[in-house]
Amino acid sequence: MKVTVVGAGAVGASCAEYIAMKNFASEVVLLDIKEGYAEGKAMDLMQTASLNGFDTKITGSTNDYGKTADSDIAVITSGIPRKPGMTREELIGINAGIVKTVATSLLEHSPNVTIIVVSNPMDTMTYLVHKATGLPKNRIIGMGGALDSARFKYRLAQALEAPISDVDGMVIGGHSDTGMVPLVGHATRNSVKVSEFLSEEKMDWVVEETKVGGATLTKLLGTSAWYAPGAAVSGLVQAIACDQKKMFPCSTLLEGEYDLDDICIGVPVILGKNGIEKIVEIELSDAEKAKMQESAAGVKKTNGLLEV
Ligand SMILES: NC(=O)c1ccc[n+]([C@@H]2O[C@H](COP(=O)([O-])OP(=O)(O)OC[C@H]3O[C@@H](n4cnc5c(N)ncnc54)[C@H](O)[C@@H]3O)[C@@H](O)[C@H]2O)c1
Repeated sequence: MKVTVVGAGAVGASCAEYIAMKNFASEVVLLDIKEGYAEGKAMDLMQTASLNGFDTKITGSTNDYGKTADSDIAVITSGIPRKPGMTREELIGINAGIVKTVATSLLEHSPNVTIIVVSNPMDTMTYLVHKATGLPKNRIIGMGGALDSARFKYRLAQALEAPISDVDGMVIGGHSDTGMVPLVGHATRNSVKVSEFLSEEKMDWVVEETKVGGATLTKLLGTSAWYAPGAAVSGLVQAIACDQKKMFPCSTLLEGEYDLDDICIGVPVILGKNGIEKIVEIELSDAEKAKMQESAAGVKKTNGLLEV
């Protein structure tokens, strides 16, 4: 199992680290455009191997896609992150060009690769990879919902004053401050609906804090977060590499599911060795359906800015 991570910045390096720590991949190649940067990160990470007990080999490359040849999975994290006060959508001008070039270069050397898109605005970048590569839809996966769901569970646990392991919940919709649809009506504490424990006011707080989860961190850190994004990506990579058939909300091309068409947006999917093996259609309330449609309109507006 060979995994390439393009972009050896904050998210890319964190992702490589979590993949290595979970010890399921034989090789991780970090690639960056900055001279020597990926090689340096790879060497630093390799020097943690004996300390952290992993055997995954991590190598670095300065923009040499030959080193990524025959990758099974590639993660695209290259591009600029947002600064405090910015929306993810504002990154499109720079990131669209980067993501398109990177996806094409990856495919030239790894024709069978499954691509996980992380760069923002992620739903639109995932759609762009579809348009630019023509890869089958099961092999293009946008990562956003896995992270947003982890943030949702963090806030739910806080509101419930419960351990996170007690809590389950999922966020679908667009990966944006306004587009996320936290499925509060489906969220549970040990299979009991959270509405049994939380007031409407508390549930509203959970939903709002989840939606601005990324912006809150960007304000604190001066750039976007990396630990939880890296961990979320490593979860998707592991599900594919180990054929786990796990369910995650991921951005995927919809063709009629959820009454949406010609759009990549977050919905529950089953991940296994073939990438997205199934799109899971769950029953949504009328309010959730309306929020999903509103979210999709926002993503389509951003897609309209693409030159493809
Ligand atoms: N989908 C999500 O949930 C999620 C979460 C966090 C961050 N992000 C996004 O991920 C991206 C990366 O964030 P970060 O914090 O790691 O940024 P970063 O600046 O730390 O790292 C980005 C790296 O990409 C490299 N790069 C730029 N152009 C390149 C190219 N053409 N080829 C190869 N490498 C190139 C840069 O040199 C840099 O090292 C941003 O767009 C950010 O918004 C997405």
